[in-house]
Amino acid sequence: MPQTSTAAHTAWRVLAGVLLSGLAAAAAADTPPATTPAATTPMASAPAADAPAANASAANAPAANAPAAPATLDPFASGKVADGATKAAVCASCHGPNGNSINPEWPRLAGQSAVYIAEQLHLFKSGARPNPVMMPMASGLSDQDISDLAVYFEAQTPAGLEADPSYWQAGEALYVRGDSAHEVPACVACHGPVGRGNLAAGYPALRAQQSVYVVKQLTDYASGARYTGTNPAQASRNGVMMFTIAKRLSPEQIRDVASFVQGMR
Ligand code: HEC
Ligand code: HEC
Repeated sequence: MPQTSTAAHTAWRVLAGVLLSGLAAAAAADTPPATTPAATTPMASAPAADAPAANASAANAPAANAPAAPATLDPFASGKVADGATKAAVCASCHGPNGNSINPEWPRLAGQSAVYIAEQLHLFKSGARPNPVMMPMASGLSDQDISDLAVYFEAQTPAGLEADPSYWQAGEALYVRGDSAHEVPACVACHGPVGRGNLAAGYPALRAQQSVYVVKQLTDYASGARYTGTNPAQASRNGVMMFTIAKRLSPEQIRDVASFVQGMR
């Protein structure tokens, strides 16, 4: 992928170990076909998770080495876009037509990684991501519903607001180069040069994401509020990456980078 070796180097140096395999996955898979069968959804194994490196490397490992995850955890194994379109009617009041939310506090889902969406819906359903609005929405969803919704939203095209002209340039610099003085890796390493994320690995897309929502999530990661439990960093198999990074960002950096990603397409 075309980010500078400096950005990659910074990320490697800062978060060596846990993140190495994640970065490799990002480098390998910036534009995976949307239907890549995800050998990457070992959610069932996540609680074994004082070993996030093992979980992260499962993203690269041959499927044969991965723990046998229930098929329902791979949204592409059973998800149907057409069924998801019907089931998404109830979501549209907040997430907008085709997942393009118009309320800045409600995240855009259009173009989001299906693997990531499915994981997040399971996390709302289990209460690990304790959001009072989404927990009741997710509690009634079956595994099949989650797969259908996830593949439907990934197939939609993101559209939305522009970046704030006062902030996006500083935000772009952070996104592309990180902040080595504070050991912040470049966001591009995992979220990709145009913010598509890493669809197969379930690293979320950030392009066109609502800046108000992005600010809230980074603040929630930093405070530990995004996930609950005795070890919130381990509630999501990938959560530890962002807990570490978000704590190192200043409020100004969060504002700037949120503005930049809102304008990405
Ligand atoms: C009443 C409004 C509302 C409805 C209806 C709603 N959502 Fe949400 N959704 C939210 C809010 C608010 C958040 C952000 C929660 C937070 O701040 O952590 C969210 C977050 C999410 C996320 C996480 C996004 C991310 O980037 O991490 C997913 C996935 C999601 N919703 C899917 C759905 C689906 C699927 C439906 C329909 C079955 C649905 N939502 C219905 C308000 C809603
Ligand atoms: C090492 C890889 C990596 C790097 C570097 C990285 N992220 Fe992330 N990011 C992730 C992963 C993985 C997740 C999903 C974590 C989870 O499961 O909650 C995530 C989640 C997020 C979310 C929440 C998305 C949503 O829809 O709720 C935001 C916002 C975000 N990252 C912003 C950033 C910014 C800004 C930077 C640079 C300062 C950055 N990330 C650097 C891997 C990374």
